[in-house]
Amino acid sequence: LESRAKVIAVASGKGGVGKTTIVLNLGYAMAKIGKETLILDADIALPNLDIYTGLESPPISLLEVLGGNASTRHAIYELHFGLKILPCGGSLQALQEADLSKLKDVIEDVRGEYDYILLDVAAGLSKFSLIPLTLADEIILVVNPEPASILDAQKVNTVSRMADTKVAGLVINKDAKGFQDIGVKLGIPTLGRIPDSKVVVMAREMKLPVIAVKPNSDVAQAFMRLAARITGAPVKTGKPSLIRRILGIKNV
Ligand SMILES: Nc1ncnc2c1ncn2[C@@H]1O[C@H](COP(=O)(O)OP(=O)(O)OP(=O)(O)O)[C@@H](O)[C@H]1O
Ligand SMILES: [Mg+2]
Repeated sequence: LESRAKVIAVASGKGGVGKTTIVLNLGYAMAKIGKETLILDADIALPNLDIYTGLESPPISLLEVLGGNASTRHAIYELHFGLKILPCGGSLQALQEADLSKLKDVIEDVRGEYDYILLDVAAGLSKFSLIPLTLADEIILVVNPEPASILDAQKVNTVSRMADTKVAGLVINKDAKGFQDIGVKLGIPTLGRIPDSKVVVMAREMKLPVIAVKPNSDVAQAFMRLAARITGAPVKTGKPSLIRRILGIKNV
């Protein structure tokens, strides 16, 4: 039996909440755990996974594949730790020729080679986000601790249910101390809480994952825990607490 990657869409209602940041850092953490992972920029109108990884203007990218001008395999590149990326490319000409309905075939082409495929999805509920959402096995909703972000996430949650794609859970990004766990309110499990951190901005400027830049930072550890939770791998943090080890309690 051929193994098939689990396809996880990272989505949000409101823009700018941290989807691209989470796709890169979660993907890197999964690869570090030993999972074959592909990150795919499905935000085809406004892609930015390329520039977050230093892979600017790759010769062949998703738009060329969706335009029927290249094969999927030729658009995949290797980043650190075996993490693979399928960048989108930013040419407006190629965007006009791209047929988003071919994304399904692109995923099918490489599904047998990975454990996980993470889709960086456009914000909101346009066709640019709806098509990738319906192709995913599961959706991770990204929210920030602010009312507009939560309200918009609620809408995406409702629409995803209507589209029959399971919402696996919530990631609260740019988390603030004292912020309530709104997963409970939305009826969605909270998979992780990523602190608002200068390390994220620093790593983005260096075009590297936070785990590569500051592996012992709170934010790097939060990404490792998130990856462990999603893959079911045991949690290893850089600062294991003695009491927790003695009691055999996992950090969640
Ligand atoms: N945990 C965090 N702490 C601090 N800054 C963050 C954090 N997460 C993301 N950011 C910053 O917030 C900005 C938006 O992040 P990102 O581009 O990942 O969001 P996005 O949801 O992909 O946006 P878009 O909807 O435009 O695609 C970036 O400048 C990023 O560096
Ligand atoms: Mg983005």
